[in-house]
Amino acid sequence: ALFFQQNEPRRKAVSVQHSEKSSQEIISGLTADPPHISPKYLYDELGSRLFTAITELPEYYPTRTEAQILKRHSLEIKQAVGATSTLIDLGAGDGEKATALFEPFQIKRYVAVDISAAFLQTSLARLQSRYPHVEMVAVEQDFSHSLHLPNEIGNDPRLFFYPGSSIGNFNPADALAFLQRVRAACPNGRLLIGVDLIKPADILERAYDDALQVTAAFNRNILRHINQLAQTNFNLHEWRHIALFNADESRIEMHLEATRGTTVTWPNGQRQFVAGERIHTENSYKWQTDAFATLLKQAGFNDCRHWSDDKNWFAVFVAQA
Ligand code: AVJ
Repeated sequence: ALFFQQNEPRRKAVSVQHSEKSSQEIISGLTADPPHISPKYLYDELGSRLFTAITELPEYYPTRTEAQILKRHSLEIKQAVGATSTLIDLGAGDGEKATALFEPFQIKRYVAVDISAAFLQTSLARLQSRYPHVEMVAVEQDFSHSLHLPNEIGNDPRLFFYPGSSIGNFNPADALAFLQRVRAACPNGRLLIGVDLIKPADILERAYDDALQVTAAFNRNILRHINQLAQTNFNLHEWRHIALFNADESRIEMHLEATRGTTVTWPNGQRQFVAGERIHTENSYKWQTDAFATLLKQAGFNDCRHWSDDKNWFAVFVAQA
């Protein structure tokens, strides 16, 4: 993990992802049956920008619904969270969501955790000039497998922030393991987490297959990214975006489907794909509020409370570690 503070602005962030390791991971996914690519490769710089564009689409309700819930119930949420001064933002991205919490929670230290160090650094530089009195710390880390926070963060009461239903990328077993790690990292702290809820399939599928086809571009961009990382030669024209709700698993699935038979090559290997064959690129699990409250309890959290919108499309949970 890389760690740098705002008083060392010249220090360059170096990616912890070694290209050799990531290309091995990518190739083993491509040669597996069924073939798959980890959703973390959706987020290169362009992918991160495309995701920001997705959050502004009329069909993509999660981001704005969550923001409405946070705003409408801000007093109660503030009461449930209690005294805190260190905000730990998991998957901070551009950090914009977290800024809504700075004032109400009187945040003194903002810890932004994300896999993309370059994106983090630009984001924090911008935020620092807007919030000069908040100490800002960037931690470059893929926290999906383990969570290690530098000691410099201190022992003030911690509020973990995991918005946007990013928890949906984990299957239920991995979500439990992840929440257990978060709980272990916040003795006496709190968790504020956003969760997307089960709703009719047509609404879900439209949110992941928008009319402007920004989500299609976001999904297909993964091929451009892995062509760079693993030296594959995917022709983007040959792949189309698929989003479908798998009701049995309670998840939206994103796939890339070959529009014709094609061979993809990389150093020392290749794979043939027949027309219609799919590469699985993302799962986005949808929850029922009761089931998610149970999951939080299983992970060791107490005093779980949640707030929702009028349509019950999204929920914001607060829990004590
Ligand atoms: C960032 C994982 C919350 O699952 O809704 C958006 C990613 N994928 N559109 C989601 C995503 C396609 C998003 N998360």
